[in-house]
Amino acid sequence: MKVVSVVGARPQFVKLAPIAAAAAAANIDHVIVHTGQHYDPMLSDVFFEDLGIPTPDVHLGVGSGGHGVQTGAMLGALDAVFDEHSPDWVLAYGDTNSTLAAAVSAVKLHRPLAHLEAGLRSFNRRMPEEHNRVLTDHAADLCLAPTEVAMSHLASEGLSDRSVLVGDVMTDVLHQVRDRVAGSPSRLVEELGLTPGAFHVATIHRAENTDDPAILRSILGALASLDLPVVLLAHPRLVATAAEHALDLGQGSLIAHAPLAYPDLISAVLASRSVVTDSGGLQKEAFLLRVPCVTVRTETEWVETVDLGWNTLATDPQAITDAVRRAAPRPTDATPYGDGRAAERVVRLLLESHG
Ligand code: UD1
Repeated sequence: MKVVSVVGARPQFVKLAPIAAAAAAANIDHVIVHTGQHYDPMLSDVFFEDLGIPTPDVHLGVGSGGHGVQTGAMLGALDAVFDEHSPDWVLAYGDTNSTLAAAVSAVKLHRPLAHLEAGLRSFNRRMPEEHNRVLTDHAADLCLAPTEVAMSHLASEGLSDRSVLVGDVMTDVLHQVRDRVAGSPSRLVEELGLTPGAFHVATIHRAENTDDPAILRSILGALASLDLPVVLLAHPRLVATAAEHALDLGQGSLIAHAPLAYPDLISAVLASRSVVTDSGGLQKEAFLLRVPCVTVRTETEWVETVDLGWNTLATDPQAITDAVRRAAPRPTDATPYGDGRAAERVVRLLLESHG
């Protein structure tokens, strides 16, 4: 059986890691296509190296652009790839423009499409990721859902008969990497001379937070006013807006730093007091590591983290600082994101549902 995985952006490389390992263990002919959406080495290459992912078989080199230009360029290039490889399954990951391109190309060419991380909804139709995930779920032949909540969204959209709860592959990779880095000092802590437990880790990259300089200024001001150092792991989109509008990423308590490789990020979060982020993946990683998180958004797809008290949504500067300073959440042993064996289930399902 031949599976073509299409990835292009940082969170997709993390999800690909356990799938590539499980596919190899099952002797599946697995072709990895990198669209080139993320091309900076710290957003791309380091993930392949650190997580032991095979080098992509095909690299489309699409790069940055507006949604239409970027997605369209991928779509055109993917048609040729799917024609050449005739996959039994196209596997699309998450909710980026690379996901949508894979989905549209696969259905147009009558290739069976499986969507990993299906059923997530923010119900915010202004988010590009929301369009990407809704459209991909409805195009897919197999919706691989990470959580019960995702299954309920798929059911309410009439997609139950093609949906399966597999768990979250990010739990698979996080558990492995956590066990690998546990016990070693964090490189970030050493490099910046931080005190473990006495700093925050922050990431801000979403268009809603970075494209409007007034919004970005207020978020940066809130982070800068915190009592402990805040290490801001700066995505290129954030660096670009800050430079354009002369916003200081090193003001007050802020320490600007390049994005981290995955094991360094996990090790830094483990050593931190709390996380402030607008990333989907990092909210959940913080929860799985039992580090309190403040999410700088008005809604989240990962509602379990909020319901269990480990994640607080805040966009107003005062609400952000209040949330960071709040008391520690109540301990929990809940496992809404699965048992760390989701990738095995995904591969088994692809094999069983083939042909
Ligand atoms: C994309 C995903 C988002 C995901 C994020 C993870 C979409 C719509 N969004 O957002 O869901 O959370 O990846 O990081 O697909 N850039 C570089 N170097 C790179 C990549 C991007 O400099 O390697 C710059 C470019 O100027 C580009 C901007 O960052 O215009 C945004 O990149 P893009 O891939 O369009 O979206 P992300 O914000 O990274």
